[in-house]
Amino acid sequence: MIPAEIKTSLYEDFDYPDNPLMGQFATIVDDAPDLRTMRMFEFNKRGCPIFLSHIGSLKWSQLRENPNAAICFLNQNMTVQIVLRGRVTLLAGESECIQLQQYWDRMRVDIKKIYDEYDVEGPFIEHSNLVPPTDVPIQFGMIVVEPVHWEILKLTPMDYPNSQRIQYSYEGGQWNGQHVNVG
Ligand SMILES: Cc1cc2nc3c(=O)[nH]c(=O)nc-3n(C[C@H](O)[C@H](O)[C@H](O)COP(=O)(O)O)c2cc1C
Repeated sequence: MIPAEIKTSLYEDFDYPDNPLMGQFATIVDDAPDLRTMRMFEFNKRGCPIFLSHIGSLKWSQLRENPNAAICFLNQNMTVQIVLRGRVTLLAGESECIQLQQYWDRMRVDIKKIYDEYDVEGPFIEHSNLVPPTDVPIQFGMIVVEPVHWEILKLTPMDYPNSQRIQYSYEGGQWNGQHVNVG
């Protein structure tokens, strides 16, 4: 379940799912933040965002070590920011075969190439030497984020203090929103 205002904003302000939803995905390494851009592939039935990645990547090992993550989305007009914090579940390997197969089938061929069998942390490999695997490779993983906090900031053009910022916490089986100062 996603807070209603956030769901509406994703459709109206971010043009999701017609436009891909890109966000800044933060992890923790040695008590310090780390950050990169990721595409939010889709929400599962419970409203948990799903991201796809290489299980040999730094982010994957950081999330194994510490499952806390934060993600920040900014719409193309730069008028709406959506932030979520949550705990991730990492899924890869044969037990998750059906779901992974569905996502794998929808991946662009050029992106599939990075799942060729090479060490992502190893030496640089020429793109032309990489081959997209045909079956779901064991390096292909899903990051499912279980949100514990959502926030939306909707800017009012030329009147920043009058912008709308709502923070949501999950209580009694539902998201409760609270208007807060824009900060
Ligand atoms: C627009 C954009 C979208 C991206 N989407 C993804 C993605 O969905 N999954 C992913 O693993 N990396 C994605 N990347 C690459 C990451 O930003 C990052 O460089 C890479 O995954 C290595 O990150 P790490 O070393 O922190 O694991 C994307 C990069 C850009 C610029």
